[in-house]
Amino acid sequence: MNRRSLLKAGLTTGGAAVAAGALTVPAQAAGDPLITEIQDWNRYLGDGVDSAPYGLPSEFEANVVRRNVEWLTADPVSSINFTPLHELDGIITPNGICFERHHGGTAQINPADHRLMINGLVDTPLVFTMEDLKRFPRQNHVYFLECAANSGMEWRGSQLNGCQYTHGMIHNVMYTGIPLKTLLEEAGVKTNGKWVLPEGADASAMTRSVPIEKAMDDCLVAFKMNGEALRPEQGYPLRLVVPGWEGNMWVKWLRRLEIGDEPWHQREETSKYTDLLANGKARRFTWVMDPKSVITSPSPQAPITHGKGPLVISGVAWSGNGRITRVDVSIDGGRNWTTARIDGPSLSKSMHRFYLDINWDGSPLLLQSRAMDEHGYYQPTKNELRAARGENSIYHNNGIQTWHVKADGTVENVEVA
Ligand code: MTE
Ligand code: CO
Repeated sequence: MNRRSLLKAGLTTGGAAVAAGALTVPAQAAGDPLITEIQDWNRYLGDGVDSAPYGLPSEFEANVVRRNVEWLTADPVSSINFTPLHELDGIITPNGICFERHHGGTAQINPADHRLMINGLVDTPLVFTMEDLKRFPRQNHVYFLECAANSGMEWRGSQLNGCQYTHGMIHNVMYTGIPLKTLLEEAGVKTNGKWVLPEGADASAMTRSVPIEKAMDDCLVAFKMNGEALRPEQGYPLRLVVPGWEGNMWVKWLRRLEIGDEPWHQREETSKYTDLLANGKARRFTWVMDPKSVITSPSPQAPITHGKGPLVISGVAWSGNGRITRVDVSIDGGRNWTTARIDGPSLSKSMHRFYLDINWDGSPLLLQSRAMDEHGYYQPTKNELRAARGENSIYHNNGIQTWHVKADGTVENVEVA
């Protein structure tokens, strides 16, 4: 299908059909020196194989990087940076730009010196080397990891200008690992063993209480991401994967799993990662990340630069409850909704990519997206969220995001709740 018939066939959503030929190159552009002249890169021999034994993106992609917001945290060692969602497509986050959240910096661990211990209420306490672990049957799964604090700055109103900052505490990766169940069964969990305490080997020694049902269900002890070894920033050589649950529980540099009969009430499940309600009580153990979505383009860091006509609206959606079955997009601040097209793999507890292909008439838009998962849970408006949980919260904001697209194509973070 050439460009012209593609336009005729498909681009009719949200307005009049696109005039055939709107995007074809007029004959007079043949005077363009980029067509008529021989270009530099046509004249010299390029670098040979092995000039980059580990390849990097083109120099023209230098802006596709993780970024932090300096005033958010006092020190980069206990801090956060954000995935450049507005530059990505499909569903997989490339390893080098997965957001990082550390509480004590990145531990540098030689895998030969790494050990994983299982102790507590087990028949046989065990210690594994990395070599031992790689002899257990392994599995591959694609899962999103979202920090519970993702969009936390947006609770009371719009704050940060870009989906990288408002929604970039997320990555979506294919993990290779061993089911946690396999290792726990190897040690033999005693009948009163009801909770698991994963512990990190980094300076923060991150610890969380995970109920045994989840540990035995779909958790993985992972050593690869997107086919290669975990990156140091993501917990090399070993991390816990807790599908669909808040990122804090995905302990990196995993060195110990203790089995107990009750939760431990660690700092990260009491003073942090709990949701303070309007009446002064706090919700805790709010592990599942509910359905959420965001339009990644156009967005404040990805304005419309091509003027009116065909416009690809694109975004991502995910749910800790399972698969996303539907994403609706509004261009008028939530008055009217059109069901978007989900394209690419639709996997449980993984990011989904959606598109709405419209013909933009050049007038301002209030862009929103609303995700629904296989259990019928849908994304609330920010007002619905605040009515249920008050305004004290930081964590678990899955409210609908609005982008204001202006006539000149620039985009701003606004709130239409
Ligand atoms: N594990 C250890 N050992 N130390 C940490 O600081 N941070 C947690 C979790 N696991 C953390 C950790 C938090 S809050 C999140 S959101 C995720 O790791 C972030 O994972 P990432 O750095 O791969 O994005
Ligand atoms: Co986090």
